[in-house]
Amino acid sequence: MEYKLLDGKATAAQMKQEMAEEVAQIKANGGKVPHLAAILVGHDGGSETYVANKVKTCEEIGFKSSLIRYEADVTEEELLRKVHELNNDPDVDGFIVQLPLPKHISEQKIIEAIDYRKDVDGFHPINVGRMAIGLPCFVSATPAGILELLKRYNIETQGKHCVVLGRSNIVGKPMATLMVQKAYPGDCTVTVCHSRSKNLKEMCRQADIIIVALGVPEFLTGDMVKEGAVVVDVGTTRVPDATRKSGFRLSGDVKFDEVAPKCSYISPVPGGVGPMTIISLMRNTLLAGKKAIYK
Ligand code: GUN
Repeated sequence: MEYKLLDGKATAAQMKQEMAEEVAQIKANGGKVPHLAAILVGHDGGSETYVANKVKTCEEIGFKSSLIRYEADVTEEELLRKVHELNNDPDVDGFIVQLPLPKHISEQKIIEAIDYRKDVDGFHPINVGRMAIGLPCFVSATPAGILELLKRYNIETQGKHCVVLGRSNIVGKPMATLMVQKAYPGDCTVTVCHSRSKNLKEMCRQADIIIVALGVPEFLTGDMVKEGAVVVDVGTTRVPDATRKSGFRLSGDVKFDEVAPKCSYISPVPGGVGPMTIISLMRNTLLAGKKAIYK
């Protein structure tokens, strides 16, 4: 089958342009420019890259951004103090705490300390709960980015069988919740498979849409995919590669060369879900700045 790429890089670039124009309008009208703050703890390579990209994208769109850094030995107490400070800072429209956090800090405690009205990551239980029942909320960036990608490529979803591989709180679970929602994209029959699933391969073979978020390089192989399927690859594992300057390359969860020829649409890694995730955080920041979801 002649497959088409779900080009996240191009789609995100287009969305960036749209948002930059809107911010220019806000400025011209004397309005407040959206302000995103990011807290980064420690020096994890992946987290450093993600946060640097978020700050850079803010600048390109015309948002204000603040980066707040801590060493890995910061106490939970100190981090909570900063969260409360940002909650109460009227200039900050939204903020994120980059995950993962060091072991001695409770991620859940930090997430629940964030004012849900500034929780542009959509990780707070109030946002997760509102999403689950279809109320306006901040939807976490990776699932929101995938929905936007499906929408902009006019992928048919109604009545389709969507298999989600992975059950994390930040991708698998919200993705399944959204794909079952009575909406477009959505209205699917959803199956969630994970490391304990016994019939994962059979489920995948029956899927019209497969969203893979396991973090296992090249997990999804050609024999697991039906002819004409739509495949979305959320994997971004760093694997050592001596031929690269950085010493690594990003590997998706899909064995692309095998799977792509069977697909109608497939998202590449890199250039698929990654850019859509960052741009969706920017969309949430714009919504926060406009008080479009919560007053
Ligand atoms: N770590 C991996 N993905 C994310 C994300 O979307 N937001 C934050 N804050 N941390 C992450």
